[in-house]
Amino acid sequence: MFKEVKTAPIEGQKPGTSGLRKKTKVFMGEHYLANFVQSIFDSLDGITGFDLVVGGDGRFFNADAIQIILKMAAANGAAKVIVGKDGILSTPAASHLIRKRKANGGIILSASHNPGGPDEDFGIKYNGENGGPAPEHMTAAMFDRTTTIDRYLIADAPDFDLGTIGTTTVGDMTVEIVDPVTDYSALMETLFDFDAIRALFKSGFTMTFDAMHAVTGPYATAILEGTLGAPKGTVMNAIPLEDFGGGHPDPNPIWAKTLMDKMMGDAAPDFGAASDGDGDRNMIVGKGAYVTPSDSLAVLAANAHLAPGYARGLAGVARSMPTSGASDRVAAKLGIASFETPTGWKFFGNLLDAGKATICGEESAGTGSDHVREKDGLWAVLLWLNVLAVRKQSVAEIMADHWSEYGRNYYTRYDYEAVPTDAANTVMSGLIDQLDTVVGQVAGPLTVAKADQFSYLDPVDGSHSHNQGLRVWFDGGARAVLRLSGTGTEGATIRVYLEQEQEVGGDFNADKEAVLAPVVDAVMALTKLPTITGRDAPNVIT
Ligand code: G1P
Ligand code: ZN
Repeated sequence: MFKEVKTAPIEGQKPGTSGLRKKTKVFMGEHYLANFVQSIFDSLDGITGFDLVVGGDGRFFNADAIQIILKMAAANGAAKVIVGKDGILSTPAASHLIRKRKANGGIILSASHNPGGPDEDFGIKYNGENGGPAPEHMTAAMFDRTTTIDRYLIADAPDFDLGTIGTTTVGDMTVEIVDPVTDYSALMETLFDFDAIRALFKSGFTMTFDAMHAVTGPYATAILEGTLGAPKGTVMNAIPLEDFGGGHPDPNPIWAKTLMDKMMGDAAPDFGAASDGDGDRNMIVGKGAYVTPSDSLAVLAANAHLAPGYARGLAGVARSMPTSGASDRVAAKLGIASFETPTGWKFFGNLLDAGKATICGEESAGTGSDHVREKDGLWAVLLWLNVLAVRKQSVAEIMADHWSEYGRNYYTRYDYEAVPTDAANTVMSGLIDQLDTVVGQVAGPLTVAKADQFSYLDPVDGSHSHNQGLRVWFDGGARAVLRLSGTGTEGATIRVYLEQEQEVGGDFNADKEAVLAPVVDAVMALTKLPTITGRDAPNVIT
């Protein structure tokens, strides 16, 4: 019933910031998925007797990929695989299920916020028993294995019925199909004051949640419109589609433009939010008030104690390096630890496991806490709702209070997508070459105060991660960060992160673009990015 299939290494199976991501057609190519899955299993020294969780965001090829993975898990000796009904599990729900069921790990199928469909993107990643993405040494071992692989094991069995809740067996392995929402929803109920949020909706508070035709549709509908009593229609684009309706399921002002326009218009509801393809990112927007992810992290850190799950306070706050320093200000004032990690959620895992940090976040619309080991879009939305229910203020009022108490970090990110790899490398190496001599140099309107290449020493396991992005500080409290994306699937993506600090007592209502214009000019002068790449402007500004 089990067969061994001869194969050979396929180039380019190196996992990036969050797993292996490629065009769907690449994943559908002969042996491509199977080679990587077998490499995961082999890098774990086999999976005999393992319990695994498997699910994905429902994009094109999700269900087919799950059939292959289930047959391979059976042939490799797994004891049990828990699968979300129809192959659906949001990334945070998968993380929770791994932890709750004390599974050995899980495989999550998603390319997150990247578009889906036969001509778009697909992805796969392995999460360990803590529910979090495999750390770097594990992803390196998986990749190593892809370069020598010569066989994989797969069951010669008919397809599984993913649409019926219950258990079946194949050989010695049990497949358990579970409702994807139930356990996650129960976890949220332990963290937040659902009665207070219910009362908020009952009082006439209005909200629009844009599920972007992605995985959070069923979760948001069940929790917001079901349990919390928000009016029907609160969740828009609630039906998950294999191609996300042709959209780009990334919750930011560009890709969630319909929601943004609504929130900036006369008929705006009190609160707007959105989540991405696999449900781990979030966007928060009030009536006429967009909240940057860096600010959202800071506000949540400052107010988390208002929710029952965090009433005892936070151990610490962690942010990725390119994320603005807004959350550092909160940590300093609260007298708790703050951490700066490389980009990618996997770096938060150790801090959360060790109890050093309670809340984490990234500028790329990711926020989360120690309740799971992934960022969690709906969690952030529910924590905001809990804060709004207790403070009884608007989002704009909460932001204004926050800045006057802690100061503000004006912030924006420029993305230059699909840049030829050579040109992108030239931009980066050009700046690296200048690092030793650049201090004191005048760059456009600003003067360089400090510059370095970010390395991270993990305070828990002592591991080092080098070359995690270039940082330049300028006189007057400005910072620019440059790094190459590890999730793009076409050429290279250069990300430029721009920040200007404004201390307590300053002007918090200035035009963000105007405040950041000198930082933009300085970094363009320093890197010569427009000349080298031929790009006058970024593709996306968030
Ligand atoms: C991007 C974000 C990063 C996030 C990752 C996965 O990675 O910048 O913060 O963790 O997606 O959602 P990048 O493409 O920049 O490597
Ligand atoms: Zn995502």
